[in-house]
Amino acid sequence: MTIPLFEAYPALEKQLPWMHLGNWPTPVQKLSNLGKAIGHENLWIKRDDLSSDIYGGNKVRKLEFIIPDALRKKKKYMITVGGIGTNSGLSTTIHCGRAGIKTVLLLVPQPITQNVQENLLLDQYFGAEINVFHGQPEAYLRVAWVLLTHPNFYLLWAGGTSPFSTISYVNAVLELKRQIDGGLLPAPKYIFSAVGSMGTTAGLIVGARLAGLKSHNVGVKVSMDSYSNFKGTVSLANKTARLMRKLDPSVPEMKFTAADFDLELNYYGGEYGRVTPEGKAAVDLMKETEGIKLETTYTGKTLAAMLDFVKNNRSLNGAPVLFWNTHNSVDYSETIKRCGGLKTLPECAQWVFKENLIPYLK
Ligand SMILES: Cc1ncc(COP(=O)(O)O)c(C=O)c1O
Repeated sequence: MTIPLFEAYPALEKQLPWMHLGNWPTPVQKLSNLGKAIGHENLWIKRDDLSSDIYGGNKVRKLEFIIPDALRKKKKYMITVGGIGTNSGLSTTIHCGRAGIKTVLLLVPQPITQNVQENLLLDQYFGAEINVFHGQPEAYLRVAWVLLTHPNFYLLWAGGTSPFSTISYVNAVLELKRQIDGGLLPAPKYIFSAVGSMGTTAGLIVGARLAGLKSHNVGVKVSMDSYSNFKGTVSLANKTARLMRKLDPSVPEMKFTAADFDLELNYYGGEYGRVTPEGKAAVDLMKETEGIKLETTYTGKTLAAMLDFVKNNRSLNGAPVLFWNTHNSVDYSETIKRCGGLKTLPECAQWVFKENLIPYLK
């Protein structure tokens, strides 16, 4: 199996580690019911939630590059920092575990939701080492100490983001372009994606240029300024493009500026992981109309921004708009019922269950 990026740039395949983890291409589909509900019948979704039968979502694409890089460097452990309910940490734990690499999670507090509690139980079930800190400085001090003293650890930046892993989302747009060329969807005028650690969206920006798509990328800020900001996203897009060209000079020179991207700031809600009424309403509407499950930290806020944009933007004139779904949709509720619950967690994480928010565990 190869990927559209390597078919277009064979020299990159020789330069970049890559392993097949996911189900490609991920499906695209028209959101007909949701479109009817909001009065814009040209809404589409790219279903990266179905990127793996094991655990889907956006990290699968990144891990297809990261895991073989870690294996090549003979690393035995992944170490990563994230919110206590991190999807990225769980995805890393599951996929790296299957490749024989254990994940060490350095977690910091965030608002507690059902999804946060479920992820934490699954982290433990799938063998992550869970450590909880008061805040990021403390967690990053630990990272520095571990990396200095343990050469067999691989550092995964929060969200798995680096120019190297961002290449995976450049490939994702080449994949989308083939689906457009094959008549599966019209070329979107706008593409909406969540901006957590910026890797997904930066990759989409580079990919759109490389694929010759005229689509405009709109990122929705869902994390704190240090992770999720306008300048950083454009800069990461430029670094990714430079890295690709360095590895393969046949990749065209690309320069990205403020004109290539919009960052929607108004749906963040002031705190990473905070449930906002409009984010929750968007999650509920997607479930009711299309039966697709989102969550409130990333994809709910992103969909809320997209729906308001579509409703308030008359000049759209029925143009196609694409929602890039980055959340896993493999259902783990049966595993969670069996996994032993709160008592399996280390003491440092037990406070997360002061109140049980998982209805099927009550
Ligand atoms: C469900 C979901 N969507 C989007 C993102 C954001 O992606 P990125 O960190 O590449 O900006 C994340 C990051 O963890 C995520 O878990």
